[in-house]
Amino acid sequence: MSIFATKERMDALVAELNQHTYNYYVLAMPTIGDYEFDKKLEELVKLEQEYPEFADPNSPTQKVGGDITKSFATIKHRWPMLSLGNTYNDQDLRDFDERVRKAIGNQFEYVCELKFDGLSISLTYENGILARAVTRGDGTKGDDVTTNIKTIQTIPHRIKANDVPESFEIRGEVFMHRAAFERLNKEREELGEIPYANPRNFAAGTVKMQDSREVKKRPLDCFLYGLYTDRPLFKTHWESLEAVQQWGFHVCRHTQLSNNIDEVLTFIRHWDTERFKLSYDIDGIVIKVNSYAQQQELGFTAKSPRWAISYKFKAAEVQTVLEKVTYQVGRTGAVTPVANLKPVLLAGTTVKRATLHNADEIKRLDLHELDTVYVEKGGEIIPKIIRVNLEKRVSDVPIQYISHCPECNTLLMRKEGEVAYYCPNEDGCPPQIIGKIQHFIGRKAMNIDGLGDETIETFYQRGLITKISDLYHLHEKAEDLKNIERFGERSIDNMLKGIEQSKLMPFEKLLFGLGIRYVGETVAKKLAKALKNIDNLAKASLEELIAIDEIGVRIAESIQEYFAKNSNITQINELKHAGLCFEIQETVNLYQSDKLNGKTFVISGVFEKHSRDELKNLIEENGGKILSSISAKLDYLVAGDNMGPSKLEKATKLNVRLISEDELTEMING
Ligand code: IVH
Repeated sequence: MSIFATKERMDALVAELNQHTYNYYVLAMPTIGDYEFDKKLEELVKLEQEYPEFADPNSPTQKVGGDITKSFATIKHRWPMLSLGNTYNDQDLRDFDERVRKAIGNQFEYVCELKFDGLSISLTYENGILARAVTRGDGTKGDDVTTNIKTIQTIPHRIKANDVPESFEIRGEVFMHRAAFERLNKEREELGEIPYANPRNFAAGTVKMQDSREVKKRPLDCFLYGLYTDRPLFKTHWESLEAVQQWGFHVCRHTQLSNNIDEVLTFIRHWDTERFKLSYDIDGIVIKVNSYAQQQELGFTAKSPRWAISYKFKAAEVQTVLEKVTYQVGRTGAVTPVANLKPVLLAGTTVKRATLHNADEIKRLDLHELDTVYVEKGGEIIPKIIRVNLEKRVSDVPIQYISHCPECNTLLMRKEGEVAYYCPNEDGCPPQIIGKIQHFIGRKAMNIDGLGDETIETFYQRGLITKISDLYHLHEKAEDLKNIERFGERSIDNMLKGIEQSKLMPFEKLLFGLGIRYVGETVAKKLAKALKNIDNLAKASLEELIAIDEIGVRIAESIQEYFAKNSNITQINELKHAGLCFEIQETVNLYQSDKLNGKTFVISGVFEKHSRDELKNLIEENGGKILSSISAKLDYLVAGDNMGPSKLEKATKLNVRLISEDELTEMING
């Protein structure tokens, strides 16, 4: 390939993969399979390694804590992970029942289970210990995501019961509860990150993250629904579910044994309406023949078992009228269109609004004024408009995405490669100003006691604050504060105390609080640790920033943009003047020793408790030396998950000792 063709190919891959990521996570409408996606991503990673000069800052490979698969070892499934045949109505299900009865007669039971809307996982236990967790992948082989799965609290690492087989596989569904999804997605939006469309996508994105400590922050859960052993242990699926529950696995209690298809249909009807009361999403019911012997008799087709089927619920859908489109401006200036609908009952709740995501979505729907639209509440929390009922169209005026900010009338901008429009008037646009101050006082940033989002809004409306640093002058405005209704002397005292105390907050919290785009909690910590103070951060070059662990071009550019603005520098100077802490407080390292003196180490793979950088520091602080490659000189290979097989082979050949992260910390502490 010529150099031009290579660059063209890389650009095309970036554009295509970004579009697929967006289709998948935001629109929840993927147009490409996982396998094909991963192949393209692999190709891009390779090209970027070979031609770093052509790497695009917008590349999907540059995303911190990437939402997409980068490098996991591929593992072949011992038993293929099949899918289920689907039915959508009673007749299809009765046909299935007919087929079953033809094959095995009338004496059998069904087990009815909820069909959890997440991603399937296969766990292998050896001698009672969780050895491997592998995603479904293409059904014959999947990704080794053990380290990430180990962060799920309801999955036992070690089984305490003594009646477990030496080796077994157990399969189930990893998912995220709706409440966690809503909370975390809100945080993503506040950070200017693209929110996930539904809990399933969030769970799937999380399981495939590279950094397990990030995964730990996103609570996942897992229901188990299938045991696989070499020799049969139980006679029925029901018995096996009861047993694995005894062993400590999370089995869903809404499971039922049924004697015939009518009982199954009653179970289905019950959950079709009750499902909205669950704390997690289900998209149907799975029906399985209970006896293993009868399952065997029925066998499999090429893709799915003949002894099980799924009944898919229809996504709840109604028609209603689009009254108008309004626009919301967020803290980062992103402008999101919202469809205001004639109120309508859908899946147990009254729906008045639906998200329209962005300008492209309005175009895709070809939305006109007063259109009658189909609104759906499927796996998504926020209802969405799926299509327009053209027969009921009354206006030939298409909805036009606005050109100016609805709050401050500034001309909107669209950054290259991004789908959202922004209001660039950061310092003059009210919701952006209010949002930034609210972010600053938030729990994860300065955590200021006695101040809440509503108070910030009131203060802004009364002209008491227009920027973050004004908070530190509020004590000079006691008279104005007293004039605010429902704001008594005690509340004022409390708040002023909270503001004063916030001056002691550590640098990384303050840095996060400044609300620099893409600088989330973790990134703020990394930056603070690497650069020590705000002045170093302000003058760091793009190269210096990118050299820091987990900082990609996208974040580095955003930091530079922030410090290039005079108003931000003035703001920081005012905060410095108020006495806030703009440098890290060096703590004495209690763990320093010379226990690893003269010993050499190579670190490879992904670890559960530490990042690779942390392990490196730990080794160096205790006198050890890090080598770049495995050689006969090497003393220890600290081996994590997903270590390449060639490294392992080389280390074994050269008789290098393999140790785990726990063994390393024991060497230091022991
Ligand atoms: S049993 C041979 N039980 O649905 C297939 N699957 O469409 C064994 N799922 O890949 C699967 N809840 O990810 C089974 N209670 C349940 C389930 C369930 C959700 C998912 C699973 C599977 C897909 C099949």
